[in-house]
Amino acid sequence: MIILDNISKSFNATHAVRSISLTVNTGEIFGIVGPNGAGKTTTIRMMTGLLMPDEGRIMIGEYDIVNESIKAKSILGYVPDKAFLYEKLTAREFLIFISAIYSIPKSEAVSRTDEMLELFGIKDVEDDLIESFSQGMRQRLLFASALIHNPEVFFIDEPFMGLDPFGVRMLKGVIKDLSSKGVTIFLATHSLHIAEELCHRVGFMNKGSIISIKTKDEISGIEGGLEGLFLKMTAFV
Ligand SMILES: Nc1ncnc2c1ncn2[C@@H]1O[C@H](COP(=O)(O)OP(=O)(O)O)[C@@H](O)[C@H]1O
Ligand SMILES: [Mg+2]
Repeated sequence: MIILDNISKSFNATHAVRSISLTVNTGEIFGIVGPNGAGKTTTIRMMTGLLMPDEGRIMIGEYDIVNESIKAKSILGYVPDKAFLYEKLTAREFLIFISAIYSIPKSEAVSRTDEMLELFGIKDVEDDLIESFSQGMRQRLLFASALIHNPEVFFIDEPFMGLDPFGVRMLKGVIKDLSSKGVTIFLATHSLHIAEELCHRVGFMNKGSIISIKTKDEISGIEGGLEGLFLKMTAFV
């Protein structure tokens, strides 16, 4: 569902991403972990069409993210690590607004909005202004808005930041459920225990390269699990 073919990106002298190639299967939960500055966010920004790669090709389903960006964007959802929200809208107004951007017909927009507010546990604050929302509520609203158009591929950058334990549990449930319905998930996280629990495969990124990819089974067979592996991987590179 996702193919990265020799992707590179530099910012002046900084080689943020160096010749990454990767395939993620339909319905797979793929996690990317690595130290700060490893290139995770840059990779996701290229996969979601926000940043042009210097080199290489990215396919989202059957669409090239650079040459067919509108079609590719119509089948992907993205929750960035830092996001902009319209503070003077209510949660409901915001979701209806996002639905309009995706050209979702009005009646469907209303039912999708209800569904998403319910799913992310923010139905009781739907008429509150976003400016009154806590960090965790903002995060829930962002997930709701990123999934409103039923994307086939879902990119999430540091999704567990700012969520309380209930929020974390809720989000893990949503991710597993989406995956079981065939949605492909690509997430970058510092939460190694969550990555270990959720992901079918985890890639280690360091200094712009994916230096290793391990399956869930491989990780569970390693002493110290994903955390042990992470410390070992980042110590030697
Ligand atoms: N817009 C930018 N301009 C200049 N340098 C950037 C920009 N975005 C990222 N970088 C650099 O690219 C590298 C990778 O950053 P990033 O992808 O954010 O890493 P991560 O998400 O793994 O922490 C870092 O060295 C960072 O400083
Ligand atoms: Mg990042």
